[in-house]
Amino acid sequence: MRYDTIDQQLFIDTRKELAKNLKPNSMVIIHSNDIYPTNADGEIPHHQYADLLYFTGADQEESVFIFYPDAKAESQREILFVRETNEHIAIWEGEKLTKEKATEVSGIKRIEWAHDFDKILKGMIHQADHLYLSSNEHCRAQNPVETRNDRFIKQCKKDYPLMNYERLSPITDRLRSIKHPIEIELIQKACDITEKGFRRVLEFVKPGVGEWEIEAEFIHEFTRNKSKGFAYTPIVGGGHNACVLHYIANNCEVKDGDVILMDVGAEYANWNSDMTRSIPVNGKFTDRQKDVYNAVLRTMRYADSILRPGVYPADYQKDVRAFMEKELIGLGLIDAEEAKKQDESKPLVSKYFMHGTSHHLGLAVHDVSDTKEPFAVGQVLTIEPGIYIREENLGIRLENNVVIGEESNTDLMANIPIEADEIEALMAANK
Ligand code: GLY
Ligand code: MN
Ligand code: MN
Repeated sequence: MRYDTIDQQLFIDTRKELAKNLKPNSMVIIHSNDIYPTNADGEIPHHQYADLLYFTGADQEESVFIFYPDAKAESQREILFVRETNEHIAIWEGEKLTKEKATEVSGIKRIEWAHDFDKILKGMIHQADHLYLSSNEHCRAQNPVETRNDRFIKQCKKDYPLMNYERLSPITDRLRSIKHPIEIELIQKACDITEKGFRRVLEFVKPGVGEWEIEAEFIHEFTRNKSKGFAYTPIVGGGHNACVLHYIANNCEVKDGDVILMDVGAEYANWNSDMTRSIPVNGKFTDRQKDVYNAVLRTMRYADSILRPGVYPADYQKDVRAFMEKELIGLGLIDAEEAKKQDESKPLVSKYFMHGTSHHLGLAVHDVSDTKEPFAVGQVLTIEPGIYIREENLGIRLENNVVIGEESNTDLMANIPIEADEIEALMAANK
């Protein structure tokens, strides 16, 4: 099997937490994602709706979950609907979840075929006082395409207009931000696969290779280590391209004397990693490149020291930027006197460090959380400061993934080389 079986305890535990957070006598309904079309009969490989995966482990299209923990009848407390398999599907698409397999994956005893969903729902929906439905409410989500959950919300409101409807996402966003130990193992596995890709790339890079070839080295290592692929579209940019924050074309050759910024992470079993490393094309940083590199690394370490439980994200970002401002003054990029009288609404630091330092990571790369709340133990975040100097064709970002602990954070990428000297030594060893 490509992925080791995930212990069903993960999904049993997430459902227990969900039950604790619902109003009394509530029902929750979550649908899978659709398979999205491309052209003619082409389609994008299925990518499961994260909330459904989080509570059931069902990684298959056309699945639905009804959760009604206060139901009088035990058989109505948890029902997972999956697409009925048959010989035709087995021949053309291969193995799908059988009822037995669906129970094994999810720990849910009652499995029904998806085509019976409407009938079964009709038989039980009116017993519930509240109906929680799921939608993607991420603050930067763009929703030009109606999802299966969106369609269901519309239909359900039409069929059952007098139900008390509730939003599920404020609950799931909070629950999903605190990672279960099994989730942390899965993210660690994704980080370890990313490490393998990075070490391979350190051996491969030299002047004249294509950014796309570096991308190919990563995907080769990811796939052979059982990842389904990139957690997000990879960024591999040399020289000036490293200053383009969302550069994904990866279509230039890297040049002697430049630094390449690589923001590349593997997924594993739908959990994600998110790494950035910046390495010298010829294996050796110039003094200037190393100064900028070490300023970014110090900022990353400082950020790690203040990314603590109870700290509000906005205060954290402000403190990291204040630290970065000092580094930019040290590099001669910001004038200390001008900094004293700068317009707060146009901070000087933004010219060279224009993005956030951290985001949650898990089933989504920019994972959900309760954005009003401070950081908490058990959350997994990236730490990713960067300095982008367009006039020097130099962009450096470093990014690791950490778990917030009581006393200190655990770096899930602690084994991935990051010191400038270590990067140089590894690259020299491969010449
Ligand atoms: N790779 C996306 C990010 O770093 O946020
Ligand atoms: Mn990244
Ligand atoms: Mn990131």
